[in-house]
Parts: sequence; C-alpha cells; structure tokens
Amino acid sequence: MDETHIPRHQRISRLPKFLFGAPYYPEHWDEETRKDDPERMAAAGVNVVRMAEFAWDLMEPRRGEFDFALFDETIARLGSRGIDTILCTPTATPPAWLTAGHQDWMRVHADDRRMAHGSRQHCCTTNPEFRAESERITDAMARHFAGNPHVIGWQTDNELFCHIAECHCAACTAGFRNWLKDKYQTVGELNRAWGTQFWAQTYDNFEQIGIPYEERPTYPNPGQHLDYMRYMSVALCEFQRGQVKILRAAQPRWWITHNGLFSYVDYWEFAKDLDFLGVDVYPAFSVTEPRKYPSASLSNETARAASGTYIVPEQQGGSGGQRPYLLETPRPGQMRLWAYQSIAHGADGILHFRWRTCRYGAEICWYGILEHDNVPRRRYAEFSQEGAELQRIGGKILGTALQAQAAVLVSCEQDDAHATMPFGLPSPGWQRHFAYTEMLARHWPAGLVDASDSFDGLQWLLIPSFVLMDEGLAAKLRKFVEEGGTLVATARTATRDKNNQVIAQTPPGLLAGLLGVTVEEFGKLDKPLLTIERPGGEAIPVGAVYEILRPRGAETLAGWSAAADGCPHAASGEPAVTLNRVGKGMAIYVGTYISEENAHALFDLLPGHDGVTPLAKADSLVEVTCRHAEDHKLYFVLNHGTGEATVRELPAGIDLISGSACSGSVTLPPFGVAIVEQK
Ligand code: GAL
Repeated sequence: MDETHIPRHQRISRLPKFLFGAPYYPEHWDEETRKDDPERMAAAGVNVVRMAEFAWDLMEPRRGEFDFALFDETIARLGSRGIDTILCTPTATPPAWLTAGHQDWMRVHADDRRMAHGSRQHCCTTNPEFRAESERITDAMARHFAGNPHVIGWQTDNELFCHIAECHCAACTAGFRNWLKDKYQTVGELNRAWGTQFWAQTYDNFEQIGIPYEERPTYPNPGQHLDYMRYMSVALCEFQRGQVKILRAAQPRWWITHNGLFSYVDYWEFAKDLDFLGVDVYPAFSVTEPRKYPSASLSNETARAASGTYIVPEQQGGSGGQRPYLLETPRPGQMRLWAYQSIAHGADGILHFRWRTCRYGAEICWYGILEHDNVPRRRYAEFSQEGAELQRIGGKILGTALQAQAAVLVSCEQDDAHATMPFGLPSPGWQRHFAYTEMLARHWPAGLVDASDSFDGLQWLLIPSFVLMDEGLAAKLRKFVEEGGTLVATARTATRDKNNQVIAQTPPGLLAGLLGVTVEEFGKLDKPLLTIERPGGEAIPVGAVYEILRPRGAETLAGWSAAADGCPHAASGEPAVTLNRVGKGMAIYVGTYISEENAHALFDLLPGHDGVTPLAKADSLVEVTCRHAEDHKLYFVLNHGTGEATVRELPAGIDLISGSACSGSVTLPPFGVAIVEQK
C-alpha cells in the first residue's frame, strides 16, 4: 500500500494482531522453572514474546559453532500455545571469545576510558570489523529462523545509544572524517561552514580533524560539534541497515523494529529502514507524582512523530532498579494504566518488561511480571487483566491513528543544535514538554509532529525555539499559515543557519516576513524581573529569556512590564508577543520560552485555537486522546490521579473496557481507564 501521501504521524500499522506479551529470557532459567511458562503466558493473554537480544554467547559459543536449540525449542513450545516470537539481533552483548584481543573494537569515552567486556554495549557500532561480526551473527540467525512460522518479526540490537553515544575510537574518527569529506568536498568549505577562523582552528586537510571533546581544555567549535552529532546518527543508521538488509533478504514476511529512544539518534531517518519504531516506556523514572504523567505521553509521542505506528517492546512491569537506584513500585492498576497510556498515543503492541525477575546479573531488582521465586502474584493478575482486555478489544485498536489538530514540532537536529550551545537555557525538549503538557491539560487532540513530516490536518502548530532555519522549513511554515493554520514561534527561533552559525540578518531571519516582526534585543533573566502584561488579564511569568520585538506588520498582543526592582530595564513597556495575519492564517511570535509557570497563561493569550476542539471536559490529571478509523473512533480516557474522576462531554458510545453504555460522561477510579467507542 502506498502511504506516502499520509503524514507519517498518522500512519497505521499493518500488524495482523495487537501484540501483547513480554521480553522473555529462557537462557536465564532451568527447564524446571521454565516448564509452566507457555501455559501461564497463554492464560494471561500473551500472544508474543521477544527473545535473544543478549544471548550471543549461547547461540555461538565458539566461532562458527551455532547452537539455536534452546530458542528452537522455546519458540516451538510457545508457538504451540499460540504465542509468536520477536527475535533480536544480539549485538549489544558480543561474547568474550569474540572481542578478546580486539581492544580497538571497544567504545572510547571522552575521558579516554576504553569500554570492556563485562556489561553491555561495549563494542563500537562504527568499527568495520565489529560491523562485519554483527552482520555475520545476523545472517546466521536469519538463515536459521527464516523457515520458522512462529517468528514474526525482529528487533535490531537493543536500545542503541542507551548507555553511551559519543565515541572517540579510531573508527569513529576515521568515519567522521570521511563523512565530512563527502559533505564538504573541500577543507576550505568546511572551514567556512564551521567558522574555524575563531581561535585559529583552521584546518589544512581532513586528517587534522578529530571528534570534538566537550572540554579540552574548553568548549569546542559549535559547527564541528553539531556535525559530529549528525554523524553519530548517520553512522548508527548504517550499522542498523547492515542488519536490516540481511533480515529482509532472508524472509520478506518479517517486520523489523528497534527499541528507542535516545539522544542524538534522528529517529525520523532511523525509522526509514524499519517497518515501525519501538519505544521503551518506563514511566516510573519520571512520573514520581500524578501531575508528571505527560513525560510518558511525550516518549510515546516522540515515537509516533517519527514512525506513525509503533510498538512498546518494553513497557514498565514492576519496580525497577540497577546498582545506584530503585524506582517506586507501580501502585495497583498503574502498570495497566501506563500500558493504556502508550496505546492511547498510538502503540499497537505492549510487551511488559520482563516475564520473570532475574536472580543474577546487573538487574536482579528489575521486577518483571513474575518474581524471583516464580510465584504469580498481584502483577501477574494485573497483567492477565490487561491481556484479557486486549484480546477482546485489540482488533478494534489496530488500524486506528491519532489525528492531531494541534501539535508541537520536534526535530532531532534542533535538539542537537541546542545541546551544542545550551547556555544553561531550557532546551526545545523542555518547552515541548510544557507546551504539550498544557495541550493535554486542555484535552486537545494534540501531539508531536516531526519538522520533516507533512503538516496536513494540523491547525495550530508550535515551534519551540528552533534556532536552525532553512529555506525548506521556512517555506513549509509559510504555506501552513497561508492556508489557514496558526503558527506560534518562541524566542530564538531562526537565529542560526544549518552550519550552526548566527545569521547576518536581524532575527528571526528567514521567518521575519512571515511573523511580521524582528527582534531588537535578546537577554536572559536570572530573576523574574519582568512579566508579560496582557490587557485585562493577569501578568504572565517570563520563561528564562526576554526579547524586545519590533512589529513590522504584526500587531502587538502583549508587552513587557516595568522591571520589578524599579531600576530601568531595556524591555520595560516593549512588545513581547505579536500576531501577524498572513493569507488565511496567523503567525504569532512569543519573545520568551514556554515554561511550566507560563504555559497555561500564554495559551490563554494566544489566539487561533478556537478550531481545536477539546475531546472532553475533565480534570487535568485525566488524559484523553482519540484514535480514529474510517468507521469508528476510540476515546481513551485515563485517570492518572489518586482520586476518583468524572469526565464529561465525551461522545455517546460504549466503554469497551467495562462494556457499559456511555452517554457523554464516565467516572473513573484512581488509575482507571475507559475506552469509549463512537461508531
Ligand atoms: C532497558 C533495556 C533492558 C533492561 C531494562 C531495565 O533499558 O532495554 O535490557 O535493561 O531497561 O533496566
């Protein structure tokens, strides 16, 4: 099916069934402990497991001697109970015999520490010899399992870049130089792009160029740094592509995914080699109180923005701990609530990490569905409830997609650009977080959309301080506004070019015409010295920085207050927020950042969202999303609060969870979930 005309964030999965299960490690258990697993899984509604991502030593105990017996047998036993398998390439954990004597394959940290066998992800995915080994084991597995009817798909490696992304090994240095040669052709061009005249960094040839260090002795060239971040992602995609090609050639019916999401990986590009992305979701890291629930929504939305449909190969099961920490145990109902939260944002498969808690190794405190003693308890009961529900309703969820009317734009490159020069200021990710949290609190049909995606279907679009701007994105934003959309850009947008150099024009450079405004002065505020005064409303707190705006066709919506300390401030009384009408739409410029303190009041001030129809009326601890298909809509209603919550102004329909009719309102217990189907 040709899907190229559908915005990527709206694409649906072609999975034949909604996936439910767990990552499974038969290699950690003896036969006696494992024997009841297929039956217990089937009883809980499991239809898929994920296996083998760390089992290279078992599958190839000596070079070229492959032994897949344990997996053959396990896959067959599970298969006979209707449980399919997702296999993984085991390249996060190469065996000791393979890497012994290959110090040069190890990743090198910026402090010169060379990684070693004994944990995981120690080998560099850029090293050509390690890549050859990665493709060799992938090929052996692919050929062995190609005819196995129970193997339905693959996960490449495991959480690439989860522990360490930057690497200073010789292969990375050589790879970076080659990539630069391809990109710039001549060293003169590179010198111009990076502005190497600053601090006498001029290069005579590509061989003089290294991977930037963050402090050796002080900060690197931001053009070089951004290029290195781009290179890391490109090199990682190449590594994955090597495996993907082999898997696709071995068995065209397999789908391929990967479990992200980590810094510096441009998942928009990375996902092009996959059928769909996966995202591992562990809310307990950040959702330490109910009001923080949107962090998990944002992980899911990031996957959806890059891939449309996606799955969750690891969704938090129990409490989790590694050597330095132990997370709080999810309260009764919370594990299931978080799973539905992922589904509410577009996941078409949930695998709870992990089936049974391991008795040895670095994750003895990472609690799975079953505990160390193999006794099913509360979590197994909750897991089984979820499994039974998804068996019943999973078919209705497949084939549906979110249709955001409002969105926050996301871009790996913009996050990277900020990371090269953070200045201690909030990142675009931070603003994304608070802007999206505000959209959720308003129960808007909203989401994240990648800057490379189509903006079709959107009405209200926020671009959070995208410092880099190019003609392509500027033209897309103009078209969006001319056709009736409302664009909101925040401070520092369009202040640098693609080389990470500050533009010669007055900001916001390429967007100045569209926004009808220029920035006269920019500055930071360590103390809340200024506020944004809105006519007839309460003052709006500043978000870390101020910009003095000069309307050039735009009207002023709000201005800066006089400084609170009574001493003159350049911004006092100057325009802070402007609105420009262009074509059928509006282009708004906000001369500060979105913050936790100002998001609500700023959204109240900004026009253009009357076309965005809230999905329901509820407390801000209730999350509401809607997944659409041609013939039905599913309203996901999730109570993240610890008290009962009543949700109103829902459409009439049937709550698929309880089976009861909903005539526009539902009341949910703490951590309760409803899925109202509107035909
Ligand atoms: C993930 C990883 C798993 C396991 C889990 C719990 O990051 O993919 O292998 O380590 O976290 O720590």
